[in-house]
Amino acid sequence: MQPSVLDVSPVIPVVVLDDASAAVPLARALLAGGIGIVELTLRTPAALDAVRDIATEVPDILLGVGTVVSADDVARAVDAGAQFLVSPGTTRSIVEAARSREVPLLPGVSTVSEALFALELGLHELKFFPAEQAGGAAFLAALRSPLPQVRFCPTGGISPANAPEYLGLPNVGCVGGSWVTPHDALANHDFHRVEALAKAAVSLR
Ligand code: 3PG
Repeated sequence: MQPSVLDVSPVIPVVVLDDASAAVPLARALLAGGIGIVELTLRTPAALDAVRDIATEVPDILLGVGTVVSADDVARAVDAGAQFLVSPGTTRSIVEAARSREVPLLPGVSTVSEALFALELGLHELKFFPAEQAGGAAFLAALRSPLPQVRFCPTGGISPANAPEYLGLPNVGCVGGSWVTPHDALANHDFHRVEALAKAAVSLR
């Protein structure tokens, strides 16, 4: 059985790719650095080509698609090869679309009521977004007592400086962030830097 998306790595790299030719070497650099998971965001025209390329060429990495904001996005992402999905928010249509394709979904929440809505829809592993702006580690620590059945992947404003505080919480499985795959490193095809950042990220816990 596939492990929970939250248990693959302490950090899920959140990637914004302008150029699909960077996708395969990027995924290989993450694996070389010890990170077996990646989230490609649907924020650029290159995103779906990048997903297709990684799905074909780098099958060892667990491949997610993020910034899923509609049921159509779910279909496009899964058709391209997504093995899990990440959404910045939680809607019934996105949850139902992901379920109908039998692909795990990490839906975003930033309030207690949104977490309760996700629980009502049968989901107890959630993205906490935007983490730093919505209350940070202190907010998640406060949810542990009333919502012990929920585990989170906080993203948004996470860095090597604040990641350990989140990773130390019992209701945090992993964190997500874009710092492992900086825009300039991808633009310059500097995959050694990505590998070094991945190595540093896995040692955060
Ligand atoms: C996300 O979608 O998870 C965030 O854009 C990542 O946030 P960061 O760029 O602050 O790491």
